[in-house]
Amino acid sequence: MSRRKIVAGNWKMNLDRAKAKELTAAVAARIAEAGSTELVLCPPAAYLETVGAALHAAASAVALGGQNMHDKPSGAFTGEVAPPMLLDLGCRYVILGHSERRTLFGETDPRVNAKAKAALAAGLTPIVCVGETLEEREGGRTEEVVTTQVRGSLAGLLPAELEKVVVAYEPVWAIGTGKVATPQQAQEVHALIRSLLGSLASPAVAAKVRIQYGGSVKPDNAADLAAQPDIDGALVGGASLKADDFLGIAKAFGG
Ligand code: PGA
Repeated sequence: MSRRKIVAGNWKMNLDRAKAKELTAAVAARIAEAGSTELVLCPPAAYLETVGAALHAAASAVALGGQNMHDKPSGAFTGEVAPPMLLDLGCRYVILGHSERRTLFGETDPRVNAKAKAALAAGLTPIVCVGETLEEREGGRTEEVVTTQVRGSLAGLLPAELEKVVVAYEPVWAIGTGKVATPQQAQEVHALIRSLLGSLASPAVAAKVRIQYGGSVKPDNAADLAAQPDIDGALVGGASLKADDFLGIAKAFGG
């Protein structure tokens, strides 16, 4: 089963409007370096329109994604962004349940699940993040934690919905720390996630789902991760803020 690789840049709460434009233009101009890898840019909500316009101006195949959203289509939810709004801004993807959302903003699996269903209903592809903390890994609880998160975040999705979802395995201890999981550690969890998806739907559906690795991915460690059979791309934080690094990672997955 060949799955198209997908590398997404999670800019988090970084850059200003001018820099967002500049980075978008640089990535769009150099998309050929990514080969067959699909590229997604996830700027802060405030710059989605700017980045979307820059991609449009470049007639770029680079996709746009949100970093978060509410699960309701509209209503009295001050400060939130609704799924149809992301769609309206040209987003095809939305990151859901990132560990920063889970730990800093109290997002639970049921909440991530509601958002995943809302994203799919709106026509957006969710990038659903899971991953254990250092304490959990050292306590031998990685499998249990990831299993609970996958089952909880993706509960009740129909097989036809599940096969569209992108899952991102991001060990919390590797995010922004420079400590990347070894390709073997990552592959082990990716294989676990794929077998869980198989039990939620079927092995045929699980074989279609793209599972990204995230956590200190850089151009110099991307090739070893890309060589693993169940690693289908990367969710990139820090390194996505530089065109050279982001494209270097994409190239490692698209070569
Ligand atoms: P990092 O972040 O690449 O800076 O470790 C990854 C992420 O949080 O998605």
